[in-house]
Amino acid sequence: MEKTKVLLLHGPNLNMLGTREPEIYGRLTLGEIDRRVMAFAEERGVEVRAFQSNSEGALIDAIQEAASWADGIVFNPGAYTHTSVALRDAVAASGLPVVEVHLSNVHAREEFRRESLIAPVCLGQISGFGWRSYILGLEALLGWLEDQE
Ligand code: DQA
Repeated sequence: MEKTKVLLLHGPNLNMLGTREPEIYGRLTLGEIDRRVMAFAEERGVEVRAFQSNSEGALIDAIQEAASWADGIVFNPGAYTHTSVALRDAVAASGLPVVEVHLSNVHAREEFRRESLIAPVCLGQISGFGWRSYILGLEALLGWLEDQE
């Protein structure tokens, strides 16, 4: 059986993790989070490729490309969660199962963070568990993929 492959996709300002509002987002850098997610994935025989961009277009390109190699996406769209019709359309067009994740609990913060334009085209959303949101998101995606077999 082919190895399951997952795109771990991070949106704007997530390259600043570690120093960015640590009381909200924690003290781990993005590299440290990626390594933890990859270690978790490796234990399960899953390949994870990570990519971060501050640019909407580059994120759209990554989603479009993932359709040709990945089995699913774990996606933290950052602030684009609340604004981007283009990213929502890219997720919907990809046909891939996508889990939306957030480090912070977006429902317990400013009103404008409560709406996600992306969540309705995702399998679901995981929000508020810090770096573990990514692990939970990957776990949810792998469980969903397993149920499809
Ligand atoms: C975030 C939540 C967003 O509202 C915010 O704009 C981010 C990070 C999170 O992971 O908690 O950049 O996606």
